Amino acid sequence: MLAFIWAEDANGLIGANGQLPWHLPDDMHYFKETTMGNTIISGSKTFRSYNRPLPGRENIVVSHQTDFPTGVKVIPSIEQLCDLIAQNPDKQYIVTGGANLFAQLRSKVDRLYRTKIEAEFSGDTYMPAIDYSLFELSKSVVGVVDGKNKYPHTFEVFDRK
Ligand SMILES: NC(=O)c1ccc[n+]([C@@H]2O[C@H](COP(=O)([O-])OP(=O)(O)OC[C@H]3O[C@@H](n4cnc5c(N)ncnc54)[C@H](OP(=O)(O)O)[C@@H]3O)[C@@H](O)[C@H]2O)c1
Repeated sequence: MLAFIWAEDANGLIGANGQLPWHLPDDMHYFKETTMGNTIISGSKTFRSYNRPLPGRENIVVSHQTDFPTGVKVIPSIEQLCDLIAQNPDKQYIVTGGANLFAQLRSKVDRLYRTKIEAEFSGDTYMPAIDYSLFELSKSVVGVVDGKNKYPHTFEVFDRK
């Protein structure tokens, strides 16, 4: 099965200059917890923002390039990626972005892990439109706001109907 995980602001913004527009450790913790033990799939720009394979997870990067660190599986096309996912129906593949990859895979995604941040930031990359009428909200948990996590945020899980 194919899932997406991302955080967006009140305007659907997800990125700024190749990085996240905000600092929200609670969401980074959620990301780690949700993706741990699964296979993560990233576009090359998102992978370069990590700068290393993320431990405890199988790392796949979709790219026409080959210069990635050891421990990363590089897949050069969406078709090859979809073949791999189809061959392993019991596995959860989690796409970690970015916008480019989300846009190409949104018609195939089964589950959405969306963190909604109730604040507005500046940036250059927005989440592609998703038809939420095709999904149902399975879970919604309000995140903690404190000295380190200044923005109200909610962790939502949607499953395809
Ligand atoms: N808020 C969040 O949760 C979140 C999550 C993820 C990312 N982001 C942000 O989003 C931004 C990056 O997103 P982005 O949309 O610009 O880039 P991206 O999706 O991370 O990467 C795009 C790159 O992936 C490769 N690629 C994409 N489709 C391909 C295909 N079909 N075949 C082969 N290669 C393919 C290409 O790289 P090559 O040139 O290497 O072939 C392409 O330039 C950053 O600011 C990042 O921090 C935010």
